[in-house]
Amino acid sequence: MSHPQPAAARFDDPVLAAMAARRSISKVGPQTPNDDELLTLLDAVTPVADHKALRPWRLLTIRGDDRLRLGAALDAAAGREPGDKPNPKPLRAELLIAVIASPTEHPKVPVWEQHATAAGAAHLLELALWQAGWGVMWRTGLDANAPAVRALHGLNENELLMGWLYVGDIDPAFRKRLETSRRPPKDPSQFLSTLPGPEAVAAESADAVHPAGERADEKAATTAAKKTAKKAAKKAAKKAEEQAKKSAQKARKKAKKKDRR
Ligand SMILES: Cc1cc2nc3c(=O)[nH]c(=O)nc-3n(C[C@H](O)[C@H](O)[C@H](O)COP(=O)(O)O)c2cc1C
Repeated sequence: MSHPQPAAARFDDPVLAAMAARRSISKVGPQTPNDDELLTLLDAVTPVADHKALRPWRLLTIRGDDRLRLGAALDAAAGREPGDKPNPKPLRAELLIAVIASPTEHPKVPVWEQHATAAGAAHLLELALWQAGWGVMWRTGLDANAPAVRALHGLNENELLMGWLYVGDIDPAFRKRLETSRRPPKDPSQFLSTLPGPEAVAAESADAVHPAGERADEKAATTAAKKTAKKAAKKAAKKAEEQAKKSAQKARKKAKKKDRR
């Protein structure tokens, strides 16, 4: 069986090779970077693209028993009674890094741009950790922004929990397997194209002003209005004719009366 060349092997440049080789590690070991190591890696993350330098993100480390507190908050969010056994999810790694989007109001930088910066920071941190030899997996879950979970993280009303990076070491045997992995690259051409042609844009703009459905509705309304007007005109004409007839009859009667006198 022939395998396509792994994407990383196509790059001599170490940064591009790391980006192409990165993959999520769902089962990580117990070793973790300490806070000093994290701060060093953050030097590679803080240059993330950030409109007006608002720095709309922050991170929290969750280690040790804080993971049990997170498990309890997730249980509360899901309406589960606190059981004897702790929620196992946050225990899948010794270190979780909560990524928080922390936007501020700015006339030129909408909130979505600030969320994009926070997501960019998380991706850069995931890559930096990977390149430093750590296994990482970004996880969320539907309850990530449930009140109990938000309260645990001390989120302000405007903030959004973007998930947690689960961090640990990579088992050497697994790392070896990764090195020889032939995971085929995703076809990049599906992500790249050009602007639609002018005709498509014109049709799209016409649709935006008068969406196709709306235009059909308008046409139907005009036809209905025309029909109603025609009916009304016919009715009015008939009424006028009847009235004219009546008036003529009246006039004739009056004339006859006059003749008889
Ligand atoms: C914002 C975000 C949230 C995610 N949440 C989860 C999650 O809760 N559970 C999960 O299995 N994968 C989640 N993923 C996907 C994994 O992190 C990972 O990207 C995916 O399994 C594909 O693996 P790969 O990174 O090796 O391509 C999330 C990814 C992102 C970007």
